Amino acid sequence: MAIAKWKDEYSIGIPEVDKQHMKLFEIVNRIQELLCDEFITDKYDGIVAIITELKEYTIYHFKMEEDYMLKNGYKKFFSHKVMHQDFIEKINAVDYSKIDNEQNKYLNEILYFVCDWLITHILKEDKLLAEM
Ligand SMILES: [Fe+2]
Repeated sequence: MAIAKWKDEYSIGIPEVDKQHMKLFEIVNRIQELLCDEFITDKYDGIVAIITELKEYTIYHFKMEEDYMLKNGYKKFFSHKVMHQDFIEKINAVDYSKIDNEQNKYLNEILYFVCDWLITHILKEDKLLAEM
């Protein structure tokens, strides 16, 4: 079961941004799928790889949004950028030593944090970008 399913209401109306948001959901769901896969006994390396992918793609995506804001003279640029930085810091703080087969709970907490942050951020902040 997907923990975060893309919904049309998440679309902010800037095609490139929407496409990248969908990709973020897709990466998060791949982590969840791996977590739930009963046939893979050692998931550690796979999980680390996807979280790294999530982090790298998020950095790329935030940069694109920030460039878009700068280009369009967005007034709330700095506060928006700070939110992005806070999120990256949170992902950087993931303690991989806590992730093992007994500690799926920790990974689930991270996934729920990421999904919740993404959805709230898209609906409250990114939506404003399309209203400039
Ligand atoms: Fe954003």
